Amino acid sequence: LSDLSVPEWEEITRLACDIRERIDDYYGVCRGKILATLFYEPSTRTQMSFQTAMLRLGGRIIGFDNPGNSSVSKGESLKDTVRVVSGYADIIALRHPLAGAPKAAALYSRVPVINAGDGGHLHPTQTLTDLVTLRNEKGTFSGLCIGLCGDLKNGRTVHSLIKAMAGFSGNRFVLISTPDLGVPPYIKDYLAASGCSYQEMDNLAEAMPLLDVLYMTRIQQERFFNEEEYLRLKGCYQLDEAMLRLAPADMPVLHPLPRIDEISTDVDNDPRAAYFDQVHNGVYIRMAIILALLGIPDPLTGKTVLDH
Ligand code: NCD
Repeated sequence: LSDLSVPEWEEITRLACDIRERIDDYYGVCRGKILATLFYEPSTRTQMSFQTAMLRLGGRIIGFDNPGNSSVSKGESLKDTVRVVSGYADIIALRHPLAGAPKAAALYSRVPVINAGDGGHLHPTQTLTDLVTLRNEKGTFSGLCIGLCGDLKNGRTVHSLIKAMAGFSGNRFVLISTPDLGVPPYIKDYLAASGCSYQEMDNLAEAMPLLDVLYMTRIQQERFFNEEEYLRLKGCYQLDEAMLRLAPADMPVLHPLPRIDEISTDVDNDPRAAYFDQVHNGVYIRMAIILALLGIPDPLTGKTVLDH
């Protein structure tokens, strides 16, 4: 996200909202283009929404979601894989367990590389999805009290969202986690440098009345070094209807999904549950990102996105 300015984030989320209204008008604008999805870590939503986005634009897709079936299993480096694939595809979406891998891959690629999640570090396209959802739910990105709850240490979507929301004026953060799962120091430094106020709490019920938005996350089992530690922390936060009664009537609940047990299914029918709408926004924003990075004009305006 740091490759774009705040007005550019707004521009791209606006385009996603336009696409959402008139998706059929965008079919065919990427005819002849190929997206490669290189997923070195498991994924349902991110990979399938990138693929859906390209297919809905009329392009095609190649890639792998199990590096064990590719030459990675023979020991090929990321650098070589990306060099090769960037000769096949026009754009690459890369998910990798190592922080910084997409940035490094971009150095060796002839085509744009999108970070589709790098370890416990960042997940910028999820954040743009979250922004589209916030635009629909709150109509603003500023002056909000944003609660983030769960595994704030390992949750990459949390790190990206905090960095993005710190770019808008007047946002405050309530960071709800156990002491072991708090945000990493570099995120606190980022908040301090941005002049944003934040408070850390470990009690979700006490935080609820303070919030304009609640962003729930799962405990990131795959980032734990030891199973016992995971089992100790698993289930430490659970949002249910009773807990939601403590929150303002207009406080949307977001979650990047997948959920495990941190939101009970009785919340799904509450009008504040925004997470299934959020997941659909992932397709529209990824369509917008593909158009922007390929330099393809918006068929409705004739203008190239992010072309200043
Ligand atoms: C997230 C991820 O992969 O970081 N999922 C997603 O992309 N929607 C969140 C998670 O796995 O907890």
